[in-house]
Amino acid sequence: MADALPVCLLDGAFVPAGEARVSPFDRGFLFGDGVYEVVPCYGGKPFRLEAHLDRLQSGLAALAIPNPHSRARWTGLVQQLVAVNGGGDLGLYLEVTRGAGSGRDFLPRAGMQPTVFGFCWRLAASGSGQPERGLACVTLDDIRWLRCDIKSIALLGSVLLRMEAGRRGADEAILLRDGRLAEGSSSSVFVARRGRVATPPANHERLPGITRQVVGDVLATLGLPLDVRDVHREELHAADEIWIASSTREALPVTRLDGRAVGTGRPGPLWRRVFDAFQALKRRETA
Ligand code: PDD
Repeated sequence: MADALPVCLLDGAFVPAGEARVSPFDRGFLFGDGVYEVVPCYGGKPFRLEAHLDRLQSGLAALAIPNPHSRARWTGLVQQLVAVNGGGDLGLYLEVTRGAGSGRDFLPRAGMQPTVFGFCWRLAASGSGQPERGLACVTLDDIRWLRCDIKSIALLGSVLLRMEAGRRGADEAILLRDGRLAEGSSSSVFVARRGRVATPPANHERLPGITRQVVGDVLATLGLPLDVRDVHREELHAADEIWIASSTREALPVTRLDGRAVGTGRPGPLWRRVFDAFQALKRRETA
């Protein structure tokens, strides 16, 4: 990931990234008590912002943290943060924690003031070589908790899994629970075999990815059916194509899994169609 751009958002103010300060008593710091979003912006326009703000709202509701801003205020803050950093193609991070207390009580006090932090960075241009090369992934047992539907800032499980993938020379970890596909350490996963695409259902084992939804929309425009169902380890290893999808990586082909070629070992023909249609949809929606 590229470095943070110069201006960040802290509790409603736009401040130089190097000068932003949060209390060490913030429950985000002490407990990982908060949620976050990553919104891609193209040509200075946030992509699928409504869906991201919906998911932020459900995450806050799950944690019983009052949403500090109205929808209109969030939209305005996002637009301002993009604008003060010069627009373009950006990743934009938003975090809301329960706020700072005066000590370390597991049980939060009522009426705390949530902390809001945001920053952005330049996205690597899509079509910049990585899609052609494809990604190497490894399967790992999912060691995370049972509320992976919440976009929690407590990401230690994901960090350890991503580190293990790196140690094994892979770009991403594809996680399995009891031999079934969960998701990537920071991505949704699709598999294709004999022209049919499948991805596992939205439940507590995985994040309801916004890009997963975009890929679903793209498949629909292409007239390709998407099977939403459990996917087993054997199917991953027998797949013609595997893709990972996320807000910062769009949809990328996985060309090696556990040291073996996926399909032909090159980005597949279905992925190529999805990639082109994804670019067209993205341009349309952010025009
Ligand atoms: N991560 N699953 C997990 C565990 C993720 O962390 C992510 C995204 C996704 C894809 O969700 P979306 O399409 O809404 O980005 C699925 C973000 C990008 C991150 O933590 O940086």
